[in-house]
Amino acid sequence: MDLFEAVKRRHSYRGAFKTDPVPEADLYKIAEAGVRAPSGCNKQTTHLCIVSDPEKLRAFARLLPRPVVETAQAIFVVVTDNRPAYGDTSFESQDYGAAVENMLLAVTALGYATVWLDGALRRDGIAETIADLIGLKDREHFTVSVILPIGVPEETHPQHSRLPLDERVFLNTML
Ligand SMILES: Cc1cc2nc3c(=O)[nH]c(=O)nc-3n(C[C@H](O)[C@H](O)[C@H](O)COP(=O)(O)O)c2cc1C
Repeated sequence: MDLFEAVKRRHSYRGAFKTDPVPEADLYKIAEAGVRAPSGCNKQTTHLCIVSDPEKLRAFARLLPRPVVETAQAIFVVVTDNRPAYGDTSFESQDYGAAVENMLLAVTALGYATVWLDGALRRDGIAETIADLIGLKDREHFTVSVILPIGVPEETHPQHSRLPLDERVFLNTML
């Protein structure tokens, strides 16, 4: 799929997935799109755990009982390193934002769907429980920031509407 087509088609999918498996080669393709993203000072602070083990997936489903997680064929856990790129400046959030967007586009281009689950992890110790599930050791420097459940969507819908271009994009001037 053409890049601009993927940009237009990408949307957050929160419905159920079909039972079609996602081949490991595709999971690695998506992961590679993520780690090829730019990062501040090329510190490459974003790390990925691909969860495909059915028992682990069931544990995720118990933790976040919603169709998109309960029926996911695999889940990417995005783990970020908070150590500064230089001085006391960390680009952790910007780095993982770039990595996750690359992954969303790769997911779309390959005909799968996903949703960026980030806010959903920030309550009831969910991010910490996910860290336990994947055996994350260095809790001082690494955080579970996002999960991306993935599969073949049962249905697709168009991208949610955006404000008109001329309300957000300006040529040689600003608001
Ligand atoms: C930083 C960030 C955090 C997000 N966290 C969640 C989340 O916890 N749960 C969720 O369902 N969607 C989450 N989303 C998805 C947004 O709700 C979604 O991108 C937005 O509503 C626009 O819809 P679209 O992705 O379909 O274009 C998050 C997106 C971003 C960029």
